[in-house]
Amino acid sequence: MNWFEMRVRALREEARGVLGVELAPADDAPLPFDWSPGAHVDLRLPDGLVRQYSLVSRPADGHLHLAVKREPDSRGGSRWLHEGLRLGQVLGVGEPRNLFALQDGPGDVLLVAGGIGITPLLAMYRACRAKARPVRLHCFARERAGLAFRRELEGQMDVHLHLGLERAALYDRLGELLSRRGAQASLYCCGPAGFMQQVRERALAAGWPDGALYQEHFQPPTELTTATGFELVLAASGRQVQVMAGESVVAAAARAGVEIPLSCGMGMCGCCLTRVLDGMPEHRDTYLGAAEQASGVWMLPCVSGCAGGRLVLDC
Ligand code: FES
Repeated sequence: MNWFEMRVRALREEARGVLGVELAPADDAPLPFDWSPGAHVDLRLPDGLVRQYSLVSRPADGHLHLAVKREPDSRGGSRWLHEGLRLGQVLGVGEPRNLFALQDGPGDVLLVAGGIGITPLLAMYRACRAKARPVRLHCFARERAGLAFRRELEGQMDVHLHLGLERAALYDRLGELLSRRGAQASLYCCGPAGFMQQVRERALAAGWPDGALYQEHFQPPTELTTATGFELVLAASGRQVQVMAGESVVAAAARAGVEIPLSCGMGMCGCCLTRVLDGMPEHRDTYLGAAEQASGVWMLPCVSGCAGGRLVLDC
């Protein structure tokens, strides 16, 4: 991945507990890359952590605009950004990647955001409106004060805010709004994992085809390491090592002296994508599609393991 130095040019409170960050090239040059709605960037923080954040701005804006929710169980990323980030500071920013792209097509676009999941969906909403493409945006949040970009969302045509719903009421509301699908409509959802799961289940139950559903994952899968040990062969390096129960493939490879490049470490970004030469991977990532996983040709060794006793990788 290509990395660029970007300077913090603005910091603001987008909502209670949500920090808005604007970044532009440290040398005041034009942005060196492009992106499309739904894209995200990797931020390299001073302590070496790498975290992914969706972009709400457009390339034409001349800067990156992202929103960081302060997570109570932060692994360090959101806490550092909220407490340590300062105006003028320079961060490493990876070239934008889009694993959640808005697809071209004639059908209506339905956007369903849970909490901070509004970030990529607001970029999609703006893009649809700019092209006069039919779009509806439904935002769910616990409280009005915690809804990022509230001032822009309130009063917009085809934006519906659902605030402070208890769980049962929230599920009922999702069921209602997903109960009908317009011709060739597509559904984009972003938010907490449980929220996205509910949206997906209700959409499928209402007859939405799987191919019309798109989701962005902010959270890593819950189980990141292998339950049982297996033999790992690193063919290109000529090394071999036993992966212990509870150990990741990346960690075992490092013990054998082979560094597999990492970014998110959560099976989300594709940075550690590795070819499988033999053996059956046990996929736990959210990067590969179902068909790619089923093919067994590639795996994300930062989170995925082995379904058998031996795995041979091309690294
Ligand atoms: S490091 Fe991101 S998917 Fe493995």
